[in-house]
Amino acid sequence: MSVESAERATRLRQLLNYHAHRYYVLDAPEVSDEAYDSLFRELQQLEEQHPELITADSPTRRTGAAPSEGFVKVEHPAPMLSLNNVTSAEELEAWRERALRLLPAGVGLEYVVEPKIDGLTVVLHYVDGLFTLGATRGDGLIGEDITANLRTLRSLPLRIPVDPAVGPPPKRLVVRGEAYMSKAEFARFQAEQESAGGKRYVNPRNTAAGALRNLDPGVTASRPLDLWAYQVVAIEGGPVLATQWEALNYLIRLGFPVERSQNRLFTDYDELEQYCLHWGEGRDKLSYEADGLVIKVNDFALQERLGYVGKDPRWAVAYKYPSTEAVTRLLDIVVEVGRTGVLTPRAVLEPVYLGGVTVSSATLHNADYVAERDIRIGDTVVLKRAGEVIPQVLRALTELRTGQEQVWQMPERCPVCQAPVVRYPGEVAYYCENPACPAQLVRRVEFFVSRGAMDIAGFGARQAELFVKEGLIREVADIYDLPSHRQRLLDMEGFGEKKVDNLLEAIAASRQQPATRLLTALGIHYVGSTVAELLLGRFRSFAALAAATAEELSQVEGIGPRIAGSVAEWFRQPANQILLSRLEAAGLQMALAEDRPAAGTRSLAGKTFVITGTLPTWSREQATDLIEENGGHVTGAVSAKTDYLLAGEKAGSKLDKARKLGVPILSEEELRRMVGLA
Ligand code: IVH
Repeated sequence: MSVESAERATRLRQLLNYHAHRYYVLDAPEVSDEAYDSLFRELQQLEEQHPELITADSPTRRTGAAPSEGFVKVEHPAPMLSLNNVTSAEELEAWRERALRLLPAGVGLEYVVEPKIDGLTVVLHYVDGLFTLGATRGDGLIGEDITANLRTLRSLPLRIPVDPAVGPPPKRLVVRGEAYMSKAEFARFQAEQESAGGKRYVNPRNTAAGALRNLDPGVTASRPLDLWAYQVVAIEGGPVLATQWEALNYLIRLGFPVERSQNRLFTDYDELEQYCLHWGEGRDKLSYEADGLVIKVNDFALQERLGYVGKDPRWAVAYKYPSTEAVTRLLDIVVEVGRTGVLTPRAVLEPVYLGGVTVSSATLHNADYVAERDIRIGDTVVLKRAGEVIPQVLRALTELRTGQEQVWQMPERCPVCQAPVVRYPGEVAYYCENPACPAQLVRRVEFFVSRGAMDIAGFGARQAELFVKEGLIREVADIYDLPSHRQRLLDMEGFGEKKVDNLLEAIAASRQQPATRLLTALGIHYVGSTVAELLLGRFRSFAALAAATAEELSQVEGIGPRIAGSVAEWFRQPANQILLSRLEAAGLQMALAEDRPAAGTRSLAGKTFVITGTLPTWSREQATDLIEENGGHVTGAVSAKTDYLLAGEKAGSKLDKARKLGVPILSEEELRRMVGLA
């Protein structure tokens, strides 16, 4: 065993004990749960490999948290169960199959789906409509009496109003719900803490926990919390509730806050599955944090038959979305040169599993970002990945430093072409200003041939790099000269005859790509596919665009002065004029086809679409916008009324259903053609 492992274990132990104290005792954690968990796992692994490193004070020896003194214990009327997690459609299906197996054949299941609110379980007792007792979940059997603190929650009914339509409140009612802090409230609270120099909280849940378990209700009141109610735990002297859906509606009628906008009842399992697969995409937009969905068998009689194992009911399950934070080691910082010469520091990382993929690289944004956060090579760093964006390094865990870490600075010369690096006053970015810098050229070529641009199959970053290095490409227009270098290509390693011919064919075919794609491919600042559509939709040809002034360009709806200025400047540059004439000579489409309808025709009027799977270049929102702009509309489920299914990769049950019903299935490319975009 190395001295290094022993030292690392000691440091991890100290750090974890420190953070456990901050979390459990002080309610003031400094790192996220995910960061804590990954450090914990690292120590666990080290100890597994070297059991001699285990000490009595190792946090891995401790199960459960230190009990907090100061609150009166409360026994729950029924065990407060927790939930088993699933993280994929397959696991969800396995859960459902297990449930079906335990029930008599032929039983049809209905499911209620609710957000899994990331807050704290609270158990609320009402006697004759009066809020008499509120408790934390504790260990599931015994919680703590936090009634005084819960009274400060504005959305918690202190007395259930007597509503003639609903009848008198039940004699006794126990409701389970989640107390939480909204994201907005958390942001406000954090800003306040910062300016007052107070404790730092890492997330809304910890802040809510700290507020609820504070011995001074005044403190709780100063941190506004909210409530979502989701379960009737016990009821006496009230209506007989037969299903979860009924229970939710009953809670609404009694005046409890219930998350109606997100709760759903499903009778069709396929629809439930699709809902689970995609719900996570929109969860950032919720006003509170939710780390998944809870799926519950609707019928209470069936719930009872299914029962529970240990602490987990068989009748409910949590569908969790992958965590988005992890901790790993920063091995190096390299500088990348972008298409426009901007230099971006990139983190080279020890590979780590994050949000469903293994990550070994992350962005560090710019030199100021690295300096402000004092991120050093060799540091243990916290990573975050939100949605589809590239992972980013959030911060360094400075407590884990050994003294070997190195401070990083932006180099004074471009790492690729050695040209001096410049920075303009007031700008964050550093630039390599050498237009001939091979790195910039590689990026320009890579972008030009990419899927969203000229879409040349078999041509990617690797080929771009190689052809530039070999001197075959000095400017993007040289791509169309590659056929005259067939022999040289064949001589290159890894280029068989078939591969070369396929590539040359794809290059030749790309000449027919519409002018809008070419305009996008040029990588003019602010000109993406939408702007390219707008510009050519109006000017129709490159010649007309080149002749237009910034003023004229900005007359186009959707084109502001910034875009107009950038486009006009690009066309003014002699080098770009030469580039365009070469592309024209190579036979590319320099104008929109005459018969091509302008964007925005209502060619899909009255048609109903369903979208499934991952599309090659569009997000679901973009596809929906496009369909709607063209007069169609988008629904969630495939039925006999569906006109088309727009399907991408990893399409699931909707695709099967569409096939069964004979609904035509479209690719993104086909839809593009239908609306005249290709
Ligand atoms: S139902 C047996 N529904 O998630 C039913 N729980 O371990 C178990 N949670 O700590 C609870 N939102 O506090 C249920 N809509 C929801 C929920 C929810 C959040 C929490 C609950 C528990 C954890 C599951």
